[in-house]
Amino acid sequence: MNPPNLPHAPAEFIVLHSRRSTIVLEAHADEAPIWRYWGPRLPDGATPRVPLRETRPGPSFMLEVDQPLTLLPTFGVGWFGQSALLAHRDGLDFAQAITGCEVEWIELARAVRLRLTDAVAALRIDVTLKLDETSDVLTLQSTLTNLGTASIDVQWLAAGTLPLPGHAESVRSYAGQHVHEFLLQTDKLSRSLWKRENRRGHTSHDCFPAAVVTTPGATDDAGLVFGAHLAWSGNHAQQIEWLHDGQYQWQLGEWLAPGEGRVAPGASLQTPEIVASCSTAGFNGLAANFHTELRSRLNWPGGAMRARPVHINTWEAFYMDVQPANVMTLADAAAEVGVERFVLDDGWFQGRHHDRAALGDWWPDPAKFPQGLGPLVEHVTGLGMEFGLWVEPEMVNPDSELFRAHPDWALQLAGRPLLTSRNQLVLDIARAEVSNYLFDKLDALLREQPIGYLKWDYNRDMTTAGAGGYAAYRSQVHALYALLARLRAAHPAVEIESCSGGGGRIDFEVLRHTHRVWTSDCIDALSRVNIQRGFLQFFPPEIMGAHVGTAPAHTTGRTQSMGFRAAVALPGHLGVELDVRHLDDGARGELKAWIALYKQWRERLHHGLVWLGEAGDGLVWQAHGDEDANELLLLIYRIAPSTHRYAPSLRLPMLDTAARYRVSTVAPAGEQGAHWFHSTSPFFTALKTDGVELDGAWLAHAGLPVPRATAEACFIVRFQRL
Ligand code: GLA
Repeated sequence: MNPPNLPHAPAEFIVLHSRRSTIVLEAHADEAPIWRYWGPRLPDGATPRVPLRETRPGPSFMLEVDQPLTLLPTFGVGWFGQSALLAHRDGLDFAQAITGCEVEWIELARAVRLRLTDAVAALRIDVTLKLDETSDVLTLQSTLTNLGTASIDVQWLAAGTLPLPGHAESVRSYAGQHVHEFLLQTDKLSRSLWKRENRRGHTSHDCFPAAVVTTPGATDDAGLVFGAHLAWSGNHAQQIEWLHDGQYQWQLGEWLAPGEGRVAPGASLQTPEIVASCSTAGFNGLAANFHTELRSRLNWPGGAMRARPVHINTWEAFYMDVQPANVMTLADAAAEVGVERFVLDDGWFQGRHHDRAALGDWWPDPAKFPQGLGPLVEHVTGLGMEFGLWVEPEMVNPDSELFRAHPDWALQLAGRPLLTSRNQLVLDIARAEVSNYLFDKLDALLREQPIGYLKWDYNRDMTTAGAGGYAAYRSQVHALYALLARLRAAHPAVEIESCSGGGGRIDFEVLRHTHRVWTSDCIDALSRVNIQRGFLQFFPPEIMGAHVGTAPAHTTGRTQSMGFRAAVALPGHLGVELDVRHLDDGARGELKAWIALYKQWRERLHHGLVWLGEAGDGLVWQAHGDEDANELLLLIYRIAPSTHRYAPSLRLPMLDTAARYRVSTVAPAGEQGAHWFHSTSPFFTALKTDGVELDGAWLAHAGLPVPRATAEACFIVRFQRL
C-alpha cells in the first residue's frame, strides 16, 4: 500500500562541500529541510536528483504524510522519534512543525542559515551549518526566537541533529571520574536509544560531551567514522536513535534544568555549537580534523602560539604548605633543570593553609608573603622563568572573608542545605557585583606583578544551583565565558589554563578563552597513556598539560622510572610536578636531559598531525609529523610485559609508500636506565648510531622491527624522508 504524500513545495538541494566531506539537505519552502547526506565527499554537482518521498513506498499502519528525518525533527505533528525541540507555553503549543523555510547562504557551498518558522506555535529556529573547507569540520548551532505573545518554556533544544548511516556500528564515548578521565567506553548501536547526560554543571570528568561513531571495519587509520562534540562547559545531553528507515539520528545539546529554557516574547535562546566531522581515514583522520578546528579557535597572545614553555607546578611538591623560602629554592632547582614557567599552585592566598578555608580571598596571605608576591615573582623572573599563579575564582569557602561579608553570593536554594564539596560553594558569578569583585581581584594581581599565566581551577560539581530561586547552571557558564573574556581583554598577554580537578572542564568552548588544560590530577605515567590517548582523539598535544610526576605517583601509589614518566609527558605541553630539590643527582640529570630533548622536539611535536596506533603485545605508539610525512617522531610505549618471544613489527601506514626514509633513534643525552629498550641486534645498534635507510612501503605494510624491552619503557624513532 502506498499512501499518498501530502503535497509539499518543490525540492531544492542544499549542498555543502569541504575537502573530504559533503552535506546534502533537501529543502522545501514549507517544512524543515530533510537530511539527505553527511559523509565522504561527493563530486561537484552530485545530488539525489529525486526528492526523498518519491523514493519511499509507504509501509502499512502509517500516516498519509511521510515524515523523514529533518534538520529539526519536532514532536506532535507526524514525527515519532526523538524531537530536537521540546517546548510549550503554559501547556499550550506543545506540538511544533515547521511551516516556513528560508535558505540564507552565508558562503556558497560552505555555510548556510536555515530560517525555520512555525507559524502555528509562533516561533522561529535558525539553524546554521558551516562546513570548513580544510578541516572537514561541520559547525552546527540553533537559535530559537519566540514570536508569540507569551513566554515559551523550552525543555530541550538540540544544538543540531545529525544523520548517521544505517551501517553505523558502535559508539565510542568517554566515561571516567576525577583522576581517571577519558575512559573509553564502546557501545554497540542497536534499536535501543543510546544516551549520555551530564548534570554536574561543568563539562565533567565522567561524561565528556562527545563521541565517535564507527562503521564496520573502521580502524585507527582506515574506514568511515563520525565524531561530534558539544562546545560547552556546562550540562549537556546527547542521544543516538535508530530510525525506521534504517539510519540513525544523533542529537547533542545543552541539558537545561527546569525553567532555564524560558524565553520571553521576542527573546531568543541560542544553543552551544556542535563541532562534528567525518573521515574515511579512521580515528586518526578524524582526530586530525578536530585538531585543525581546535587550533583555529585558540586565541593566542600575540596571535600565534609560541613554543610551549616547560612548566613546574608546585601542587604535588608542597600542596598547601607554601613557604616562600622553600618555593624559592624549588624555583632555583627548577631553573637549573631547564624549567621555563614556574606556576605557584594553591596555598598562596589569604588564610589558605588547608582546603577548609579562604577561597574567595584573592590576595597574598600576609603571614606567608608579608611583602606580597613581589619578592617571589622577582626571584622567579630573575631566574629567567615566567611566573604563573593558581586561582579558583568561581568558588568560595564558607570560612572566608568573602563569604562572611556576602553569604548571599553563593548559589543556594532557600530551605535547602548548603551542600559543600571540598568544603566549598559556587559563587553566583552571573551577578554583576560578584563578577566585578572577581575581576577586580584578578586584575589587581595581574597588574601588581608580571604574572604571565593563570591556572584557573574549578573543584566541585554544582548542586542547589539556585539564584533567586531559579536554576543558574546555564547563566554560570555564560558568566564564566564573559569573565574570562573580560580578563583576557584587560590582560591580553596572559595565558590561562583550564583545570577542574584535572580534566573536568575540557571542551572546545572554554578553549576559546584558555590555552591549555590540566588533563588529569593523575600523573601516574601508565594511567596517563590511556588518558592522553582519549584526549588526543579530539584535542591537539600542545594544549595537553603533561607533567613528570613523583615516584611513587601520589594518586595511584605506582612507581615508574624517570625515563618512562618523562617519555609519556614528552609529546604534550611538558611540565614537572615534583620536588626537584629532592631528586638524587642521577634522576635530576635524567630529568634535565629529557627537558632538553623536549625543547629540541617541541615544534615537531606540537604542529602537524598525530597518529595513534597499537601493535598488540603491550605496545602502543603515537607519531607526530607533518601532513606530507617528510619528518616524523614516533614514540613507542611498552605498557605491559611482552608475551611474545619477538616483539611484533609496527606498521606505519602514514608513511609515503613511494619514499625512502632515514630512520634513527632519538634519546636524551646520556640516556640510561631500566626503561630503555636493550638490544644488541645490529639493526638496533645501527638505529642508535648512523641510522638506517628503509622503504616507506616496507614500513607501511610490513612494519618497523621493535626491540625487546621491559614493561614501562619507551623507544623514540625519527623518520626523515630521503
Ligand atoms: C585541583 C587541581 C590540582 C591542584 C588542586 C589545588 O585538584 O586539579 O592540580 O591545583 O586543585 O587545590
